[in-house]
Amino acid sequence: MLSHEEKIEIEEELKGAPFKRAASIDALKVVQRHRGWVDDQGLKDVAVMLEMTPSELDSVATFYNLIFRRPVGSHVILVCNTITCWMMGCDSLLKRLTERLGVPLGATSADGGFTLLPVPCLGACDQSPVMMVDGKLYGGLTPEKVDEVLKEHGWKG
Ligand code: FES
Repeated sequence: MLSHEEKIEIEEELKGAPFKRAASIDALKVVQRHRGWVDDQGLKDVAVMLEMTPSELDSVATFYNLIFRRPVGSHVILVCNTITCWMMGCDSLLKRLTERLGVPLGATSADGGFTLLPVPCLGACDQSPVMMVDGKLYGGLTPEKVDEVLKEHGWKG
């Protein structure tokens, strides 16, 4: 069941939308902001508000890779692995991240602190290689800078 706050915030999003399903992503972001991810019941409840079927809304959620349909860690790291970042060495960042966090891409560290996910182009190719942590973009990265970013987010090493 959606919380009172979630409902109010989704209703606000609906006010600014030309039609209900146009607010799909923003409504899902509301749930994610409150819960950290979008669980099945949350998705069903949002679908009712938007007059969509759960499977229609789930298709939107699945297509948009910044909506998380599984639980994530306290911090979410999105590593761009598209062409420019790949040419500029994103593999070395991924290697460092998987070593430091002890998990492969797509997984969450054992302490629940970090989830490591691949992401297509973040639109910051001029700063490649890049990654985003909790919505903040980091560019011009090297494995050493990755360590600094992890520490900034509470990684103890
Ligand atoms: Fe990585 Fe564009 S290819 S930001």
